[in-house]
Amino acid sequence: MATSRLSINVAGLTFQNPIVLASGTAGYGEEIAEVIALEQLGGLTTKAVSVEPRQGNPAPRVAEFDEGMINSVGLANPGLDRVKSEHVPWLARHLPRTRKLANVVGNSVADYARVVEELDACAGTPPHVAIDAFELNVSCPNVKAGGLEFGADPTSLTHVIAASRAVTHRPIFVKLSPTLPDVARAACVAVDAGADGLTLVNTLPGLLIDVERRRPVLGFGSGGVSGPGLLPVGVLATWRVSRAVKAPLIGVGGVARAEHALQYIMAGASLVGVGTAAMRDPSVPRRIMADLERWCEHHQVASISELIGTLEWKS
Ligand SMILES: Cc1cc2nc3c(=O)[nH]c(=O)nc-3n(C[C@H](O)[C@H](O)[C@H](O)COP(=O)(O)O)c2cc1C
Repeated sequence: MATSRLSINVAGLTFQNPIVLASGTAGYGEEIAEVIALEQLGGLTTKAVSVEPRQGNPAPRVAEFDEGMINSVGLANPGLDRVKSEHVPWLARHLPRTRKLANVVGNSVADYARVVEELDACAGTPPHVAIDAFELNVSCPNVKAGGLEFGADPTSLTHVIAASRAVTHRPIFVKLSPTLPDVARAACVAVDAGADGLTLVNTLPGLLIDVERRRPVLGFGSGGVSGPGLLPVGVLATWRVSRAVKAPLIGVGGVARAEHALQYIMAGASLVGVGTAAMRDPSVPRRIMADLERWCEHHQVASISELIGTLEWKS
């Protein structure tokens, strides 16, 4: 599947194609290696990594509805030490051609910086690189600053990125929420603070009710909505951010077909994340890559990068 037509250089890294598995939907790779040919992907984003292990939220954590999925996993993860000892070695050994992005979460600036610094120190060197880049999930509450999301407060956002920037030379992507009142402004703040790129978007808050029990369907109550309904939300956020910053973008949300990936690319994304659709059907990423290849051939597009930001719309 690796062809020069789909290969793309982003933030100094060559991706063999623009398709990247979205954080939280692919574990740390090993868990899904039997069902998805990971070595054919452009990239894989790990599940969140926090300093301490996180148990996550009570079950049920995931529920489906007609237009997508709602989850409240609560960023469950084994914590930094176990990720370093169990998952980093696997990533370094098994996926030499696929780019690996480590998704990072925290409740304080120091948390983010520690995870980035320690993962950076064990990320390895070619040909055994476990982590090529970082993705900061800034949709977490900053406990020390009153619980407002890092991404929603320019000062917190600047601090968390600057502290992470200071401890790694690897590219840093900052993942923003679609609920931000001005996503383009947050993207500018992120780039000014040292981010190399942005990921758009995280899930949208939602609530599903079990009417017989008159209770939320999810154990935690509310959750994050992902899947088909998120597609136009993510594409618009990508478009807005692409007009505000020059940095490369990863478009995520509702991608299930090559045509969806093309929408993100035309809106300004260099890479496209696939989450919910691949959880539902593991053959989806492979199909998207093959159909993208065919689409480019049919439209005489020599390099997928020619299509980035080619949407014709003067909003
Ligand atoms: C079960 C599940 C777990 C997720 N966990 C994370 C996470 O740990 N960190 C993160 O930044 N995003 C997380 N996300 C959000 C996805 O990476 C992605 O932004 C979102 O699902 C939209 O893409 P999709 O519609 O293709 O699923 C999670 C999504 C799902 C469905």
